[in-house]
Amino acid sequence: MNSDTSTGGEAPVIDTHGLRRVFGKTVAVDGLDLTVKRGEVFGLVGPDGAGKTTVLRLLAAIMKPSAGSAIVAGHDTVQDAEAIKERIGYMAQIFSLYRDLSVQENINFFADVYGVTGEARQQRIERLLTFARLTGFRERRAGRLSGGMQKKLGLACTLIHEPDILYLDEPTTGVDPVSRREFWDILTSLHTQGVTIVVTTPYMDEAERCSRVGLMYRGRLIECDTPERIRGRIPGQVLEFLPGDRHRARTILHHVPGVSEVQSFGELLHVFVEDLASGEAAIYKALGEAGISISAMRPIEPRMEEAFISLIRRQEETGK
Ligand SMILES: Nc1ncnc2c1ncn2[C@@H]1O[C@H](COP(=O)(O)OP(=O)(O)O)[C@@H](O)[C@H]1O
Ligand SMILES: [Mg+2]
Repeated sequence: MNSDTSTGGEAPVIDTHGLRRVFGKTVAVDGLDLTVKRGEVFGLVGPDGAGKTTVLRLLAAIMKPSAGSAIVAGHDTVQDAEAIKERIGYMAQIFSLYRDLSVQENINFFADVYGVTGEARQQRIERLLTFARLTGFRERRAGRLSGGMQKKLGLACTLIHEPDILYLDEPTTGVDPVSRREFWDILTSLHTQGVTIVVTTPYMDEAERCSRVGLMYRGRLIECDTPERIRGRIPGQVLEFLPGDRHRARTILHHVPGVSEVQSFGELLHVFVEDLASGEAAIYKALGEAGISISAMRPIEPRMEEAFISLIRRQEETGK
């Protein structure tokens, strides 16, 4: 069912050129060139304020660009907004369910809004409630569902008109890890049905599950590739250890030759080195001379998180 093999010559589902949006003096989206192919799960990640939500609003044709253009499913977001709205499902960062209405009443409401009637209606509602694992909760008021269940109900409501393009803005933020995984299992099954998904997330483990990831920073896409290739872009190797004095250790290590970068992960340090053996020796020497202890030293596989912090830092250093 995965459409990967058929995307060869096909026009992209999303295609933007120099897409820009400003709010007063704030440049929220700064010249975005992005293409997303049919059936991709495209992850948009980046720190708060990077412009992720604004990109989704522009792609959903509910906000106009200040410059540039976006084509979604063959339609221009400014000229042809209505045609786009029929094709997409957009789950906003704060998705408004009716808290005093039951699960069933909420989904009925969205079916009304989208004009889903006739025989298809009941079948579709049942299928979506089953899909979201909410059949046992149809009488429960939305406001009394757990955070994870509210998100799943939001997703079910978003899917009521069977969109083949889905925009999800931080659908799992603040949701417990088990529900997060379950939500992603649902996304995977939508993906296998051929739905194109653009999802924003602050969680790097979720970014790993995307077919392609774009890193946004200050309105720009500073990196856009498969998770594997982004990880591969980290220069050198990463050593992890527990230092006796993390703050002093960081400061000292910044000046050690062969160390390109130092990141804190809780009490641990992740040190980027050109070469594992000489890097480890240099760390022991520098911290040893300063009387700082080292324990649990080990090389680690770089993850998206390291890659992104590293890429953002490089971006900051070049002054952009
Ligand atoms: N409606 C708005 N009015 C004014 N500024 C806005 C508006 N929406 C977003 N911004 C600004 O644009 C920038 C990008 O915001 P946003 O797209 O929400 O980023 P993200 O979703 O990555 O956190 C931020 O500086 C934000 O304050
Ligand atoms: Mg946002």
